[in-house]
Amino acid sequence: MKFLFIGDIVGSPGRKMVEEYLPRLKRRYQPTVTIMNGENAAHGKGITEKIYKQLLEAGAQVITMGNHTWDNKNIFEFIDDAKMMIRPANYPAGVPGEGIKYLRINDQEVAVINLIGRTFMGNPNDDPFQKADELVTEASARTNFIFVDFHAETTSEKQAMGWFLSGRVSAVVGTHTHVQTADDRILDGGTAFLCDAGMTGPSDGILGMEREAIIRKFQTNLPTKFEVAEGREQLNGVVVKADPKTGKATTIERIRIDEAHPFFE
Ligand SMILES: [Fe+2]
Repeated sequence: MKFLFIGDIVGSPGRKMVEEYLPRLKRRYQPTVTIMNGENAAHGKGITEKIYKQLLEAGAQVITMGNHTWDNKNIFEFIDDAKMMIRPANYPAGVPGEGIKYLRINDQEVAVINLIGRTFMGNPNDDPFQKADELVTEASARTNFIFVDFHAETTSEKQAMGWFLSGRVSAVVGTHTHVQTADDRILDGGTAFLCDAGMTGPSDGILGMEREAIIRKFQTNLPTKFEVAEGREQLNGVVVKADPKTGKATTIERIRIDEAHPFFE
């Protein structure tokens, strides 16, 4: 069992990188399931139905979201029909969408869970630990293969989630900071862990957005419109291999493709 996860796809440069490299990544890694974080896929904020379908066509099986889930209002038009997309499970009760996805692949069931952190993440949400416990308990009754995308800002909250779920899921992979961390490891109990998978999109912006506006924002605190950066591009992600019976992670490998880290087939 192999999970391929692609980190936060930012705007059209991110989508272009997915289209260009995903077929090659699939040839190399032969993933059982491919998961992508798409919360920045539409001009850096949110997702549209067209882009959702485009990412599925490009090879995603599950698309996860985060704090920008609702930023493109088009989501309200299609989320109820978007069976392959999940949003953070610990959003308040009553919001549209689901936070867990079960997939059947080659006679095996796989569960993908999306959660959002509460430290430096803006709007208050429900306790991600309590929700994780609830969903992992539910999923464990059906499958040993559980992948968690924890969309959060701080490394401490992400490590806490990794250890909290250690031994109960195949992988806890963080998203949201857009900067890949180098702490890939397998925690005691067989849970692959990475604080952040990094982003997919422009390399020379700040977290994928045009630098000038972000610098101005830091200097002035004035309201600023952010645009997706142009120029060189990157793709970041991770591959987790899990034991075909127990679901315990056996390897974790970071993927980093950019000018300094070219992809060779
Ligand atoms: Fe985010």
